[in-house]
Amino acid sequence: MNSGTLAGVVALLFSLAGAAGADGPRLRPVTNPLWQQECGSCHVPYPPALLPAASWNAVMDGLPDHFGSDASLTAEEEARIRQFLVGNAGRGAAQKGGKPLLRITETPWFVHEHSEELPASVWQRKEIGSPANCAACHAGAADGRFNEHDIRIPGGGK
Ligand code: HEC
Ligand code: HEC
Repeated sequence: MNSGTLAGVVALLFSLAGAAGADGPRLRPVTNPLWQQECGSCHVPYPPALLPAASWNAVMDGLPDHFGSDASLTAEEEARIRQFLVGNAGRGAAQKGGKPLLRITETPWFVHEHSEELPASVWQRKEIGSPANCAACHAGAADGRFNEHDIRIPGGGK
């Protein structure tokens, strides 16, 4: 990891910590109907604050080949959603190999937050399948609620 990457990671962690309340990081509730509809149909609409702007731009640049799915939009929809995501993005940078990270689940913050209390094998449970399947454990994920009081892990553990 070069120093630029490290600084970026620290900045991202800092911006999340900056949103911390008594119960831990609290995500600012932001919403946008077009984003909810278009980016919440295959998975929960992932909170914009969990990736920096460069990552959202990279995600939006690659929609026709989006993690093996075609998530293409019209140019107008794409521009409106991009504006919403970038405008509410986390600060700093999260990179891998000099490129913006595309996955929240690969950010150091996510890995850390989810390794303290969870055994590594949890992601393989059939009801979960992928760390990106936030709603498997966070009952309010579709509405942007990731509060620690709203967590139920299929197969047990919390
Ligand atoms: C046609 C279905 C589909 C649509 C529509 C879609 N996605 Fe995805 N998205 C996926 C799949 C499949 C994955 C990979 C999930 C996994 O790894 O379990 C994914 C993963 C992601 C991830 C990485 C999750 C992680 O942290 O591992 C992000 C970020 C993301 N999508 C953003 C978006 C945004 C923004 C939109 C709207 C512009 C969108 N998606 C619309 C199918 C879709
Ligand atoms: C296997 C179950 C599971 C999955 C899947 C999962 N999480 Fe979590 N999440 C947890 C647990 C357990 C915690 C730790 C709660 C604690 O510290 O008490 C947590 C904590 C969090 C927190 C901090 C909440 C707080 O109040 O401290 C956020 C934000 C979060 N997860 C977001 C996500 C997002 C976004 C996804 C999907 C990309 C996701 N999680 C997927 C189980 C899960």
